[in-house]
Amino acid sequence: MKRIGILTSGGDCQGLNAAIRGVCKTLYNHYKKDEIEIYGIIDGYRGLITGEYRLMKPEDFSGILTRGGTILGTSRQPFKLMRVIDEENNVDKVAAMKANYKKMKLDCLVILGGNGTQKSANMLSQEGLNVVSLPKTIDNDLWGTDMTFGFQSAVDIATQVIDCIHTTATSHSRVFIVELMGHKAGWLTLYAGIAGGADVILIPEIPYDINKVIKCIKQRTKSGKNFSILAVAEGAISKERAALPKKQKKEALANLMYPSISYEIAAQIEKATGQETRVTVPGHFQRGGSPVPYDKLIATRFGAAAGECIINEHYGCMVSLINGRVVPVALSDIAGKLKTVPADCEIIKTARLTGISFGD
Ligand code: F6P
Repeated sequence: MKRIGILTSGGDCQGLNAAIRGVCKTLYNHYKKDEIEIYGIIDGYRGLITGEYRLMKPEDFSGILTRGGTILGTSRQPFKLMRVIDEENNVDKVAAMKANYKKMKLDCLVILGGNGTQKSANMLSQEGLNVVSLPKTIDNDLWGTDMTFGFQSAVDIATQVIDCIHTTATSHSRVFIVELMGHKAGWLTLYAGIAGGADVILIPEIPYDINKVIKCIKQRTKSGKNFSILAVAEGAISKERAALPKKQKKEALANLMYPSISYEIAAQIEKATGQETRVTVPGHFQRGGSPVPYDKLIATRFGAAAGECIINEHYGCMVSLINGRVVPVALSDIAGKLKTVPADCEIIKTARLTGISFGD
């Protein structure tokens, strides 16, 4: 009898259910009915800590390919607190997770998640649990994989937002800022910004000079363009702030006089150009709804590859897309590393060649 536990952790995204389905269909397909048991662990690591799980049936994984969110529920359990004893309840989280793994008599734990989740997955693997993980996040910032599932669906939504903003920006001769998710990595803003035809793209990896941003808008106005659109990542940062030591930078960002960086940029643009400037923040909309076909496909491929790892008893790995192929990579090689946008990458060059400003 093979016993598998499965959990989704961290912020949700499109394609989680497709990936869960991919893993479980592969296993049910390979093993006879009485040879496999799959336990759904509720709300991510929280369920593994508190022992909330249920035995799943094959029917649980039917009809979920296009469903957004996660049928298992999710929660944020910061990696940095994993080894900190929860004093209120006096719980040693790592010991509790190991005990519940043992109680369920698991042969493997399947973990779907982003950066923090992968760090905890690696920790559990080093603690002796058999772990196979899958790369999830709309941020596409996981080291060791060319693509995460959820990203293309978020790009689709963010691009639609910019497309819609175009028509209203033109009607009103306004400047519009579309603020997109991504605190540390600008992939989503970069892809959607290019696909949506933004005039300026500001991402955390390329600190901006507000005077250059303003100059770009003024030049557009001079050339007869009555509107401008900026795609701004929530983690975009000015050159001045980026140059500060870590602690001061953190303080400066925490003491922002505006709800987010986009509102500060909007105020600066409006003051310098006199042009009405509006901010649109699609927020969690970007993580919601059904996955696009690309994500349904890549999530299924990741799921099937994870199932194959379990069948082959290949543990301690995350399934990754590398040069078009889905392969397992060692969790110890990828955990804790962030895949940010290289400032000289081909897609940045594409944007620059087509006249998009990064404000640098
Ligand atoms: O999952 C990553 C992410 O989408 C970030 O881009 C965003 O800043 C964050 O999650 C928001 O998370 P929460 O759901 O905790 O507000």
